[in-house]
Amino acid sequence: MAKKILVTGGTGYIGSHTVVELQQAGYETVIIDNLSNSNIGVLDGIEAITGSRPVFVEGDCTDIGTLRRLFEENRGINGIINFAASKAVGESVEKPLMYYRNNLNTLMNLLELMPEYGVEGIVFSSSCTVYGEPDINPIDETAPIKTATSPYGNTKQISEEIITDFINSGAPVRSIILRYFNPVGAHPSSLIGELPRGVPNNLVPYLTQTAAGIRKELTVFGDNYDTPDGSCIRDYIDVVDLAKAHVMAMERMLGENSGGKIEIFNLGTGRGVSVLELISAFEKATGVKVPYRIGERRAGDIEKIWADPAKANSELGWKAEVQVEETMRNAWAWQCRCMKNQD
Ligand code: WQD
Repeated sequence: MAKKILVTGGTGYIGSHTVVELQQAGYETVIIDNLSNSNIGVLDGIEAITGSRPVFVEGDCTDIGTLRRLFEENRGINGIINFAASKAVGESVEKPLMYYRNNLNTLMNLLELMPEYGVEGIVFSSSCTVYGEPDINPIDETAPIKTATSPYGNTKQISEEIITDFINSGAPVRSIILRYFNPVGAHPSSLIGELPRGVPNNLVPYLTQTAAGIRKELTVFGDNYDTPDGSCIRDYIDVVDLAKAHVMAMERMLGENSGGKIEIFNLGTGRGVSVLELISAFEKATGVKVPYRIGERRAGDIEKIWADPAKANSELGWKAEVQVEETMRNAWAWQCRCMKNQD
């Protein structure tokens, strides 16, 4: 009997890629999404890739009645992957209460209902942002948690604490917390990818829109950092690699050899890449020039952070496989398809 997984925020960027990998691994999937930052057409892409369409519930996870109805109408859910959250750092500074209400109430509603409906475990979408500016790189899971630099980052820290306290209270559930570094790219089929609304905050969608002529030029936010080429360094992890990590986490969490009540894993490639290196990788991979200029630093940016993924490699049996040039090719192919669809 196939296990059934509830994916909150499952029509979103990482959620949709994870639903694809779950279905291709033989899981049944149920998606709940309020479509506030995603498009219902994503379901067609998932179906086109996998041959099966997830059960979809349009709804808001901050409303416990909506979630209760979902569990009543979709019995036998074994596990949850919780992506449903607001995630724009800058917006969280302007609207902190919306971020705390949305991100924390969603999680607390899910945790409250899990024992009632026999849901064994929850995989939580966390972020390397909990580490702040690392003292050393690469960074592993024992690194200290620093004071959050944004309400968004704080919701991730508080969420991890809520899960820990709930499980330590004796609740009959397990959890795996995944701290992502920088998710980038798109599915190689170009049937799903990132759909930023408005002007993208993140580097790669802004870069591909500039390459496509939608944006006039890319601004590199500073080249006077203490890094080899002066631009900030990140650990850019391909979104399909990231999605596969969630399947492996679910298998571990629901399996016999689960590693205990709560586990935390850093998900990154282990390679630091600068902004200027990423631009070069894109141009090399696609043959498309990206007009850019060097601008001022962006407030709140971390200078350099990249993962030590050894724990996920050894205990999850997961390793990032996709090389950055292939990720850039997939991102560009997705951008081109989006433009074709708009014609
Ligand atoms: C990457 C680098 C910028 C845009 C954020 C969140 C993190 C996660 C991923 C949700 C930085 C530079 C960017 C541009 C640029 N979000 N940049 N010009 O800030 O590392 O992480 O998104 O899970 O929690 O903090 O990602 O893509 O915004 O920036 O030079 O137009 O690219 O300065 O060095 P970031 P990013």
